Amino acid sequence: MSTTAYQFRNAPQQLDPLQRVLDPITRHDLAKIPIRPGWTVLDVGAGAGSVTRDLADKVGPTGTVIAVDIDTRLLEPTAVIDVYQRDLRDGLDLPIEPGSLDLVHSRCVLEHLDNRVDLLGQMITLLRPGGWLVLGEIVHSRALIHHAPTDDDSHLIYRVIHAILDTLATGGTDLDWGNLTHAHLLDAAMTNIYSHTRADTWTGGGPGCLLLADNARQLHDRLLQADLTDADLIRFGELMVDPAVSVRGYQFTSTIARKPQ
Ligand SMILES: C[S@@+](CC[C@H](N)C(=O)[O-])C[C@H]1O[C@@H](n2cnc3c(N)ncnc32)[C@H](O)[C@@H]1O
Repeated sequence: MSTTAYQFRNAPQQLDPLQRVLDPITRHDLAKIPIRPGWTVLDVGAGAGSVTRDLADKVGPTGTVIAVDIDTRLLEPTAVIDVYQRDLRDGLDLPIEPGSLDLVHSRCVLEHLDNRVDLLGQMITLLRPGGWLVLGEIVHSRALIHHAPTDDDSHLIYRVIHAILDTLATGGTDLDWGNLTHAHLLDAAMTNIYSHTRADTWTGGGPGCLLLADNARQLHDRLLQADLTDADLIRFGELMVDPAVSVRGYQFTSTIARKPQ
């Protein structure tokens, strides 16, 4: 059993901006896969369910989307969507026949769990021959501040973003995992493996900066141990809603792969 505890609390203030930032990328990835009505798919660590709902639209009333998360408060079961509350640190313990799933999706989940390699293997086991895997993770990159009201503000934003990333890494999040996924899938003899990495410009008041602000709020006490003060974090919160601020957002790597036929 894995011991790493997830370092955020699920709340709309975190998951809404995360979804608004990442959903366009995930939709673009899913559009590469010929998803058919009637498919059975699994969303691992489904969060507030935006991808679950997109998948439900694609598989239609004859399909099934299984959404699993330790915190299912923000997930709504429907005639198509089955919701399971599970702690993934105990593995993917679900009533699914091995070799039966058409597609498995997981976004910003495995990086947080230290049994990620086992979980990846279990996802592959559940896929049918020819089934698809779509994974996405935030990966470490150097912060880049394009504009802020003052040089001090620019320096502060840089320090806080790096303190967030360092705090997560210290707490067990592997911010390199998204870079390693491709090689793990090659080792697992998956085919059609394709990965791409993206980091968009985020503007104060937009979803990316609101995500940064919420990450800093949630990690507040631990950031104080990273040489930041309360005043710094209050100023960071103000900057994240200031439209004069422009930064390069978190880097995100998507990987798509197919199980051999
Ligand atoms: C960053 S959120 C991503 C949510 C969603 N996949 C998305 O991208 O919108 C990480 C999700 O992983 C879930 N999670 C974290 N640790 C977990 C665990 N041990 N078991 C099950 N789910 C977990 C959280 O509850 C949260 O919903």
